[in-house]
Amino acid sequence: MSHSTNLPQSFHCIWSSPSNIALIKYWGKAAGVQIPANSSISMTLKKSRTITSMKVELNPDFSVHYNFEGKRNNKFEQKVMATIQRLAQFSPELLKYSYQFESKNTFPHSAGIASSASSMSALALCLTSLRQKWDASLDSEMVFFKEASKWARLGSGSAARSVYPKLAIWGANPAYNHFQNEYAVVEKDIHPLFEGLCDSIVLVDTEEKSVSSTAGHSLMNNHPYRELRFNNANLGVVSMKKILSLGDWDAFCELTEKEALELHSLMMTSSPSFILMKPKTLELIQRLRDYRAQTGAKICFTLDAGPNLHLLYPSSEKAKTKDFINVIEMRDGLRVIHDEMGDGPRLEELYE
Ligand code: PMV
Repeated sequence: MSHSTNLPQSFHCIWSSPSNIALIKYWGKAAGVQIPANSSISMTLKKSRTITSMKVELNPDFSVHYNFEGKRNNKFEQKVMATIQRLAQFSPELLKYSYQFESKNTFPHSAGIASSASSMSALALCLTSLRQKWDASLDSEMVFFKEASKWARLGSGSAARSVYPKLAIWGANPAYNHFQNEYAVVEKDIHPLFEGLCDSIVLVDTEEKSVSSTAGHSLMNNHPYRELRFNNANLGVVSMKKILSLGDWDAFCELTEKEALELHSLMMTSSPSFILMKPKTLELIQRLRDYRAQTGAKICFTLDAGPNLHLLYPSSEKAKTKDFINVIEMRDGLRVIHDEMGDGPRLEELYE
């Protein structure tokens, strides 16, 4: 419900919101606005974040000014403006303001870390804080994050999962009633083995992605494996949820790696076809599997839509995986970003 008379003259807030890495991926859309074709589950990261400051003033002329890392960024500005216009269908008050954004990431550009997830969730959280000024239903924390997740989704699908700590599930699944297409939910059932799971991201290649995720999702529209994939992913979420609750490392390894390779197989077999892994990605996967076979270390990998390898291991395995990662850093000379499961977004400042 909205009460336009209560609109604040000005408002300023700063949200810090993390990226996430999907364990079971969202790849392909269903009919509707940003509706996923299958459910997905992700781990929220801790250090890889976007920090967004949003200052607004009541103004009959809606406008957006977006600075990214100190410089005006037209591409982001257009995207943010389009997102606010889209959200104004639900909250027309949003168009009564002029917006000034200052945003920065804590991780390098094109690092294989989903910056759309962190930036769009940070934006959605800022806008939800503003909306809270006229919509008292958002005073409930549960409603606040559910609405922020919805709005984040409308900016970038995977961003819907970034507003929650640790693990989040987004997208309807025939096996569960409470998973929704419109917003993500937090998954709290985590075995201690998976608490604080580490994600060391090996930067194999930092060139701009050769397929945008919008183009990537549309490749699933006429994909020969479409139905097979969506069923498989929904089953994958059911299995992953159980694995994370039971602490079954071997099953985690098998499913996580199979899923990452399935995502890439889908890209390789779509029209047009894309090979996003680099020879080095494959070399490192083989070395990882050899190392695991030789040492029994609990370490496995996942991939996003790019060549960079996400090495996943329990925090209790840091010592056992150190040698493997050190070689990548020292001998291969590749940059590795050490991240881990995080506690979700943070409201840094709120000026009333
Ligand atoms: O949120 P989007 O539209 O950028 O899609 C993200 C797709 C993957 O990162 C490849 C998988 C996922 O679920 O995060």
